[in-house]
Amino acid sequence: MNIVLMGLPGAGKGTQADKIVEKYAIPHISTGDMFRAAIKEGTELGLQAKSFIDQGALVPDEVTIGIVRERLAKPDCEKGFLLDGFPRTVPQAEALDSILADLNKAIEHTINIQVEKDELIARLSGRRICKTCGTSYHLIFNPPAEEGKCDKDGGELYTRADDNPETVANRLEVNMKQAQPLLDFYKAKGVLTNIDGQQDINKVFADLDALLQGSRS
Ligand code: AP5
Repeated sequence: MNIVLMGLPGAGKGTQADKIVEKYAIPHISTGDMFRAAIKEGTELGLQAKSFIDQGALVPDEVTIGIVRERLAKPDCEKGFLLDGFPRTVPQAEALDSILADLNKAIEHTINIQVEKDELIARLSGRRICKTCGTSYHLIFNPPAEEGKCDKDGGELYTRADDNPETVANRLEVNMKQAQPLLDFYKAKGVLTNIDGQQDINKVFADLDALLQGSRS
């Protein structure tokens, strides 16, 4: 099962990706998570990505495409994978087609989670993440059982550096500009499925799961 999960910042890609990979036992490939891990480790990739992420800009296509190419070639992607937050531009989508052709693979589901801008701002401003396992919470919409602690492993919850109001505004502007041409690219191929992301988290997952189950029967 090869899945591409798209959506604007805060649409719920990470939240839904966690549920999908748990159920379908496929690797979760999030370019944002890969960049944040590289920044934490202080690698060359992290140094390259940090200034872009801090400003809410996109990391240049050639850097992003390179890490996805390398990741998709790993053996754990043989039985499927979920791409979260990639592609985000038309050149990335074209590069993905070529990477997959080289690997003799194809995408089965290209999914866009749709959420209005005001809701995205509310979600990002209240998001908290577990320092240990990366699980996403929301102070109001999806709070942990105990304030400041992850339900899964008790890890400390923190606010992502790029969730401050100025960076959020820039991230939304940059991503909204790229989103329409990207959606048009997949619409023209006739492979795009839109999912209503403005429902309860479990209802969004039920819709996604029904779509994925449909392809199995
Ligand atoms: P990335 O980490 O991918 O961030 P993003 O796209 O901005 O998306 P988010 O992770 O912020 O949101 P999400 O959709 O995962 O929402 P979540 O599930 O957490 O990228 C970070 C940066 O890396 C980019 O800005 C860019 O610089 C760079 N980058 C990454 N990929 C790149 C690429 N391909 N090309 C170039 N640069 C790239 O949910 C958000 C909140 O809402 C949470 O609090 C959650 O609990 C809550 N929530 C979720 N669903 C619901 C719901 N249904 N109802 C109510 N609340 C909900």
